[in-house]
Amino acid sequence: MVKINVNLQERSYPIYVTSDFDGISKCMTALNPDGKVAVITDTNVEKFYLQPCMDILRNAGYETYSYVIKSGEENKNLDTVKDIYRFLIEAKFDRRSSLIALGGGVTGDITGFVAATFLRGINFIQMPTTLLAQADSSVGGKTGVDFDGYKNMIGAFYQPKFVYINVNTLKSLPERQLRSGMAEVVKHGVIADANFYDFIDYNVNKILGLDEDVLQHMAIVNCSIKGKVIEKDEKENGLRSILNFGHTIGHAIESESGFSLYHGECVSVGMVGAFKIAKQLGIVDEGSVEKVKETLQKIGLPVKVSGLDVREVYNKMFHDKKTRQGKLLFVLPKRIGEVVQCFIDDESLIMNTLREVITE
Ligand code: GLY
Repeated sequence: MVKINVNLQERSYPIYVTSDFDGISKCMTALNPDGKVAVITDTNVEKFYLQPCMDILRNAGYETYSYVIKSGEENKNLDTVKDIYRFLIEAKFDRRSSLIALGGGVTGDITGFVAATFLRGINFIQMPTTLLAQADSSVGGKTGVDFDGYKNMIGAFYQPKFVYINVNTLKSLPERQLRSGMAEVVKHGVIADANFYDFIDYNVNKILGLDEDVLQHMAIVNCSIKGKVIEKDEKENGLRSILNFGHTIGHAIESESGFSLYHGECVSVGMVGAFKIAKQLGIVDEGSVEKVKETLQKIGLPVKVSGLDVREVYNKMFHDKKTRQGKLLFVLPKRIGEVVQCFIDDESLIMNTLREVITE
């Protein structure tokens, strides 16, 4: 088991990367919880991993409960949060109790928000089982729910006590979700580490073939890159926004598609859009644009989408949190491994780029 530390003074925590669930109780002991534990999972993950996790926790002597939410982004709302509060009150959870999020990004975001707000904050542990969650959402403390059609509108920064990544959980992930999660991995290479980017590009087949060693290395580097950014800017006052590379266009496409496209698929197209804008502004060279498109296509991610209204996508970009005084915040690549942030209000540049990545 490899341990990566995220250093945030009193909110510091370890991320464990391994290939089974056997180490859970040892990690719990290091946290020293002495209260009840609830594993929160969803209807997809329940059938694969709930029982093994419950068994390990019970055998280690914890008073263990479980709560299963309906899978899907449409359940990431305050109604689900209220249901979990009621369950915790009924089970008499108190300030020494812990919640474990076992699942993907939706489960992690909801559980983290409940943990942040129940009794003004109880222990929270992330056990991500999707690539999106292992590569991105389980690290960094962003928690919350959607509200009135706006993604992640209500939430809190609340860091987990630890993150436990069992890379072998990716074996039960549908292939489309695995490919989709790779968008966040490519993102980390582009924003921070050209060597990691090359590692991904070279190992696409092994990653999609779920080679354990390659998956572990990938998880370790992903978490290290993200952890370093979080250490410098926990609450997204500046640097952390680079983690939104590809998301300015990506989130708008995701919303305009009515969430029929997966998050990573939209981020993939959004990253290509960001490369094209950077190329137009003379920030990045054409070779890098082509290289990224090739990598994404090799992974099986889209570099274009069809059937969406370009003007609507443009309008939706302004509903996001990435705007200031009517200008859109873009994270643009200077080269693979380095990005810059800039506010852009050139409508024709953005619309022309959208027309290149979206066919109506
Ligand atoms: N997923 C972007 C962030 O955690 O800031």
